[in-house]
Formats: sequence, structure tokens, C-alpha cells
Amino acid sequence: MSDLQILMLGPPGAGKGTQSSRIAEAYDLEHITTGDALRSRKDMQTAHGTPREYMDAGELVPDPVVNEIVESAIEEADGFVLDGYPRNKAQAEFLDEITALDVIIYLDVDREELIRRLTGRRVCEDCGENYHVEFAPPVDQGICDDCGGELIQRTDDSEKTVKERLRVFDETTKPVITYYRSDSIFHQIDGNTTPDNVFKHIVDLLDSVR
Ligand code: AP5
Repeated sequence: MSDLQILMLGPPGAGKGTQSSRIAEAYDLEHITTGDALRSRKDMQTAHGTPREYMDAGELVPDPVVNEIVESAIEEADGFVLDGYPRNKAQAEFLDEITALDVIIYLDVDREELIRRLTGRRVCEDCGENYHVEFAPPVDQGICDDCGGELIQRTDDSEKTVKERLRVFDETTKPVITYYRSDSIFHQIDGNTTPDNVFKHIVDLLDSVR
């Protein structure tokens, strides 16, 4: 396994999950994603309630819960692509304390495109594979190509909750972009084009910095 430490930033729906999976596979890295980690622990009881209460409303899960998940995942990884974290200044400062990043990639995508991507996303209930009703449809409608599982809409992908997630991004996560922007390892990539095209730009970038 390579030991590259990559941070993937971007608004909800920018394609962080899509691109991080591809990077992890191509460069033999661990894909650490707080969204998936929290979805698999949605009903876990914490001192702050359950993650579900926050996620279904489009709000951020409290820092202590998320920081602990990220710290233990990073400790176990030889190299990683981190997706969905940090989402506020305090999380960014915590991340700085526990690791040293090699590359930061910010996927920039227009607002209308984000809404289209999120409200049209469908995920396999069984294996978690991602689809899009328009951009990446399955062969048989509503059925996962990989495992035959049922495709469902994430509860936080309704139009109302998507708008709230974008509001939280503007208010709380945008300052994280500003926090990293002047760093020499920060790179902005246009995420408005096709997944293949975005991935090509990322590979060009990673190959130039390795
Ligand atoms: P999380 O799961 O991290 O959601 P998110 O950041 O809102 O990101 P998404 O997974 O929705 O989008 P993405 O950028 O990964 O896009 P994707 O590749 O899937 O977090 C969910 C919740 O968990 C949060 O709201 C919060 O409550 C909690 N949480 C998570 N981390 C936290 C933290 N650190 N602190 C506190 N709380 C936290 O693509 C989207 C769609 O577009 C797909 O359908 C895909 O097929 C399609 N698509 C992707 N790329 C393209 C393209 N180039 N062209 C066309 N379609 C595309």
C-alpha cells in the first residue's frame, strides 16, 4: 500500500465519494468517509444523541463523535483518501494535530448541478453502490447492476434536506476551504464535467506531485 495522505473537499454532491473510491482503488489507499461511517452507526447512542437525528435533518453530527471515528481510521491506515471531513474549522484544527496531509483536492461544482446530482442519486440498499437516475442509471430500473439489491433514495437526498445541507456547507464548511486555500498542497479541480474527465484531472495532479 502507498502511504499517500489525500484530503478530498467539496460541497454535498460534488462527487467526493465517486472520485475517492476511484482514487483509493487506483493508488491502493484506504477510503475513509465519515458519511458512510456515520450511516453504518446511525442509531448508535452517544452523549449527544444518535447520528440519525442530525443526518436526517441535514445538520452536522457533533465533533466528538466524528473526530473519534476519523482518528481511529487514520491510525489504522497506511495511506488514505479522506472524504467528508473536516466540515468545520474545529475539525480542521483537530485533523492538523493528528496527521500531515500530502495533497488537498477541492472539487468545485455549480449549485444547480449539485441539486440535480443529489436529488437524482440512488444507492443500493445491500452493497451501497451509487447510481444516478439520469447520469449513471442501472441497466434495470431500481435494481443494482452489481448485486441485484433494491435501489433507494437516501433520506437526506430529498430536495428540502439537500437545500439545508447546502446551507450548512455555505455557513460552516466554506471557512474550511478558506483555511486550506493558501496552502501549497491545495488544488482546485473543476468537478462539473463527467466522472471520467474529473478523474483524469485528479490522476494528472497526483502523478505530478508524487
Ligand atoms: P456525506 O455522506 O459525507 O454527504 P455529503 O458530503 O453531503 O456528500 P455526498 O455523499 O452527498 O456527495 P459526494 O460529494 O460524495 O457525491 P457523490 O460522489 O455521492 O454526509 C452525510 C451526512 O453525514 C452529513 O449531512 C452530516 O449529517 C453527517 N456527516 C458526515 N461527515 C460529517 C462530519 N465530518 N462532521 C459532522 N457531520 C458529518 O455523487 C453524488 C451523485 O452525483 C451520485 O448520484 C453520482 O452518481 C453523481 N455524480 C458524481 N459525480 C458526477 C459527475 N462528474 N457527473 C455527473 N454525475 C455525477
